[in-house]
Amino acid sequence: MSVSSLGYITLTATDLSEWRTFGTEIMGLMLDDSSNDETLRFRMDDHPARLIVQAGDEDKLAAVGWEYADEAAYLAIVDALKASGAEVQAGDAAGAAARSVTAYSVSADRAGNPFEVYYGRTGLKDDFASPAGVGQFVTGEMGMGHVVLPAPNMDETHDFYTSVMGFGDSDNLTLPPPAESAPEMNIRFMHACNPRHHSLALFNYPVPTGIVHLILEVASIDDVGACLDRVQKAGYSLMSTLGRHCNDNMVSFYVVGPGGIAIEFGYDGLQIDWQNYQPTVSTKGDHWGHEYVPPVA
Ligand SMILES: [Fe+2]
Repeated sequence: MSVSSLGYITLTATDLSEWRTFGTEIMGLMLDDSSNDETLRFRMDDHPARLIVQAGDEDKLAAVGWEYADEAAYLAIVDALKASGAEVQAGDAAGAAARSVTAYSVSADRAGNPFEVYYGRTGLKDDFASPAGVGQFVTGEMGMGHVVLPAPNMDETHDFYTSVMGFGDSDNLTLPPPAESAPEMNIRFMHACNPRHHSLALFNYPVPTGIVHLILEVASIDDVGACLDRVQKAGYSLMSTLGRHCNDNMVSFYVVGPGGIAIEFGYDGLQIDWQNYQPTVSTKGDHWGHEYVPPVA
């Protein structure tokens, strides 16, 4: 059994009106017409809800939605989660409708990161058009992108994703400590059952928002450059300048979005045939660029 793709991400946010503008005018996502004052459902493609932002008291990750291929795969992962000792709560029909999925269950990983497993997409639409003129988001069978989650208990959490959830290892990256006497940084990249280099990565440090970053991948460098222009014109801070990663070859920048949620915006991510793939171990993050930009006080 293996996980198919990253299907959706749900965040809670303290300022939905800022998200509405940021999501549509800056990131170029399309707002589904079912959105209201409590919930924004952003589209990247024919799926009615890829990024769901709900009004809340905190700016935080609420759930990562992992897609499984069909009902049998879904029932198998629910059983496997229960057998592993994870708490699993079955979602109801209203919750499934809110996510535009056939059925889902709620759980958490070994670091406490909330996630959901689901199968089936409902309410597909074929009228995607980016309000900011983004040509195409790279989705399809590869899902909405990738997400990086905090996991200070790295070994235990990594083992959970590979042995229970059905992820495969892509790369194990170690970088120098961010400060003297701090531990080295370790990021473990894992792939789902699709060609995207990684759908999930774990980072061995805690993060207040519960999410290190998520990526929106587009099909051209011009869409990356145009988005960078929009970000800078609107006055949003960068978390990292433009650069190209070594392991997934992504050319991207990172913006600090509403509520401190970091979003990577990139193109040219590596797509891999996993048959005969040997997971890599690396110590270099970037070919060029990706200079960290310290937050402005
Ligand atoms: Fe990334």
